[in-house]
Amino acid sequence: MYEVMTPEQKKSRYAEVTKEIAAVLDGETNLTARMATIGNILHHAFDHYFWTGFYLVDPEKPNELVVGPYQGSMGCLRIPFGKGVCGAAAASGETQLVDDVNAFPDHIACDARSESEIVVPVFNRAGDLIAVFDVDSDDKAQFDEADRDGLEAILKASF
Ligand code: SME
Repeated sequence: MYEVMTPEQKKSRYAEVTKEIAAVLDGETNLTARMATIGNILHHAFDHYFWTGFYLVDPEKPNELVVGPYQGSMGCLRIPFGKGVCGAAAASGETQLVDDVNAFPDHIACDARSESEIVVPVFNRAGDLIAVFDVDSDDKAQFDEADRDGLEAILKASF
């Protein structure tokens, strides 16, 4: 089992991490470096993060996501738009909060230990979808509005 956080504790941890990410990324323009660093800092800041990473919109196959920088066990390499939780976030442009991934139609089980998940779409300054950010937990119902608000703010400010 891991550290169980109240919504208030989560909020304040996200506030600290937001500042840390902004400071570490300051002046760095390389997209891979930015994504790898965001995923690393978040993954190590929260106990309920089991798999953490980006799936990028593939410029060669714009209806497909391809795995990018991540932390955790081996992830699936490709996800078509519309399939699973990541595919739903990419197709809709909306954050997906899933308490029980096994109840989600089409869920893609890259690691059978994943039980709940949040996926946040990532847009560039021009408003184009460039990626989704996927966090899985190995316990049910681990993500809530504090995660949504924290992650949406970090990703909006970072790309
Ligand atoms: N569970 C995800 C697939 C990606 S992995 O969990 C790393 C989904 O259904 O989108």
